[in-house]
Amino acid sequence: MTNKFIKDRIRFVKKQTEPKRYLSSFDSRTTAHVFTDVLVIGSGVAGLSAAIQAAKHHAVLVTTKERVDENNTAYAQGGVAVVLSAGDTASKHIKDTLDAGQGLCDAAIVKAFVHEGPKRVNELIRWGASFDKEDDQLIFTQEGGHHFPRIIHAQGDSTGKEIEHTLVKVAKENKNIKIFEHTFVIDLITEDGVCHGAIAWHAKKGKMLIWAKQTILATGGCGQVYRETTNPDVATGDGLAMAYRAGATLQDMEFVQFHPTTLYIAGAVRFLITETVRGEGGILRNKRGDRFMPKYHPQAELAPRDVVSQSILKEMQKTDHTYVYIDIRHIPKERLYARFPKIREICASFGIDIAKDLIPVRPSAHYMIGGVKVNRFSRTTIRQLYACGEVACTGMHGANRLGSNSLLEGLVAGTIAGADASKSIERAKRQLFPSPTQELTGGSKISWLDLNDIGNSLKSLMWRDAGIERDEKHLLEAEEMIEMWCSYVLDKEFANPVGWELQNMLLVSRLIVVSARNRKESRGVHHRSDYPKTDNIRWKKHVTIKRTKS
Ligand code: FAD
Ligand code: SIN
Repeated sequence: MTNKFIKDRIRFVKKQTEPKRYLSSFDSRTTAHVFTDVLVIGSGVAGLSAAIQAAKHHAVLVTTKERVDENNTAYAQGGVAVVLSAGDTASKHIKDTLDAGQGLCDAAIVKAFVHEGPKRVNELIRWGASFDKEDDQLIFTQEGGHHFPRIIHAQGDSTGKEIEHTLVKVAKENKNIKIFEHTFVIDLITEDGVCHGAIAWHAKKGKMLIWAKQTILATGGCGQVYRETTNPDVATGDGLAMAYRAGATLQDMEFVQFHPTTLYIAGAVRFLITETVRGEGGILRNKRGDRFMPKYHPQAELAPRDVVSQSILKEMQKTDHTYVYIDIRHIPKERLYARFPKIREICASFGIDIAKDLIPVRPSAHYMIGGVKVNRFSRTTIRQLYACGEVACTGMHGANRLGSNSLLEGLVAGTIAGADASKSIERAKRQLFPSPTQELTGGSKISWLDLNDIGNSLKSLMWRDAGIERDEKHLLEAEEMIEMWCSYVLDKEFANPVGWELQNMLLVSRLIVVSARNRKESRGVHHRSDYPKTDNIRWKKHVTIKRTKS
């Protein structure tokens, strides 16, 4: 490609269509109004932890776009990393987390979150969460990058389900907490840089304006922007997009973590094969049956995730095959079946006996490390708006997240957000009813768009051009294509979540691609084949991104 050609294309993609401030028009004189002290958007580990904490002193409303327990949290398998086992120390966990983060962790946050972890986990246990035990003692396992077995788990490989059910039970028993299920938040309501709640939609009740003295965003990640992902359908990055539209600063959006091992069978969902399978001795083999991880990293199968994902990709390319295998046939059958009951069940439904057969796996998009920039109190750059959990960027993970550090972060940061929002409520600036009235100008309600087609094309594009391995040519192509879609999708006004989610996914994809093009080095989960080295002189810093017009 000639330089001139590249320059022309850069000029083309610079003409970006900034999204409209609000995806949907609303008129506060005719829309239903709901009032609460604290609005929590999202009901995963972070949102519910925040809600339970804030509800100690204030009325809390939790909105969630599907059932209360449909979220990334409920699908978590491996466990929670926490310093509770004999011989482990906070400083060891901190060191492992900082090492994995490759120079971009916020050391003070890592220290605070690791130290707070045992308190939060013990609280969960008091609330009834049952983690796996042997002789009445918690069992600890290991995952990539951890140098100590410090991962606790539940029902073998259903840790998230246990945590989610415990938090839902506690939230439902609390009289200060109301939960609105199937209530899709479209946008945050802001005026002069202050958040006053959100506009939401319910299939039967229609649009509603939720006025809150403090708003906590806990909408999780955006795995759905990739064709291959471990994330459930709800993970469309809505919170990232609405925070951007509202003018919040986002950070490190190029750092998308790819999980090395998801089940790869044509027609099957990309079900996660937890890293703890490798923690229990699972071995990765290529098409020829050869073990390959020891030649890539001294920790072999337990190397950090970025290393394992990239190594799998290399082996797939070398052997011209679309997947590799995980081999656990050497582990006693009884142990396997007891330890991984869900994986056994899912694999069996495709005719795979995990004790006898190799399991076909390949990497998938798994976790958004970047997100809405927050400080140590989970405050965003917008007043009266907090963010916690996967939607937030706290600095805990740097350029690469250690397995099982996310549930830990959700528990700790969610609690911090709830406590700080609650404490700051008296100082909150009240929204003067009935402003604002928002009408879209130029947004067409008529569309000839095939939303499914654009969504599927976007996911394939992101997987191909902004996936595990990136370079300028492919990122530029992706940016150009996304820009074209944005130019005729973002100006439309849709009437339900199908359209709003696509608009959010386009925006989030653009933020990922722009940030990935910007970072001209390889670090952690961001691997650029045209800049394969880590450049500590120019790039030991965060990439932030913010809407250019408000
Ligand atoms: P989520 O749990 O995803 O919750 C987000 C909530 O926001 C959902 O309820 C959703 O409905 C709601 N929401 C989103 N958009 C809107 C909207 N527009 N309006 C209203 N509501 C909305 N981490 C670990 O530490 N250990 C593990 O073992 C582990 N295993 C994992 C396995 C899988 C398969 C996956 C996908 C992730 C795993 N992770 C694990 C990561 C971890 O589960 C997540 O990062 C964490 O649960 C995120 O919690 P959260 O509360 O931030 O978001
Ligand atoms: C897993 O169980 O492998 C996922 C753990 C995580 O993402 O933290």
